Amino acid sequence: METLNINNNARKEDKYKELLPQILSLIEGESDVVANLANIAAALTEAFCFFWCGFYKVSGKELVLGPFQGPIACTRIGYGKGVCGTAWKESKTVVVEDVDKFPGHIACSALSRSEIVVPIFKDGAVAAVLDIDSKELSTFDLTDARYLEELCRHIKL
Ligand code: SME
Repeated sequence: METLNINNNARKEDKYKELLPQILSLIEGESDVVANLANIAAALTEAFCFFWCGFYKVSGKELVLGPFQGPIACTRIGYGKGVCGTAWKESKTVVVEDVDKFPGHIACSALSRSEIVVPIFKDGAVAAVLDIDSKELSTFDLTDARYLEELCRHIKL
């Protein structure tokens, strides 16, 4: 596949339904993790025009920046720190409607207003997170959580 087939007029749920199988077919034949994470970040950004979309991988007691699309970001985040470290610590998706109201939010960019972080598991433990930032308030909801969690279940780290 060389281009994504995306209907930009579709509602969010239909867009995810259209996009997920395309992403899965993009990564299923490739064993290199960096290549797959890079293409997932690119595909999600192409479909939804996210401000920032990328991955942090667990390395010891920190998360380390992985493949992403968007402005430069902080490279390391401690366990339990920020939205990413909280999703790691709690092993669950965190949806933040207004980053200014999330205690300890790490502002890689002052333009980011809302955020979703989805953990990715390997052998039962969080091994990475998918982090997406928006320049608008309340961009993410349970629909994003549901489909992004489904996507993350298919990511082999
Ligand atoms: N806002 C995140 C930090 C990562 S950037 O958004 C890319 C956080 O609070 O963990």
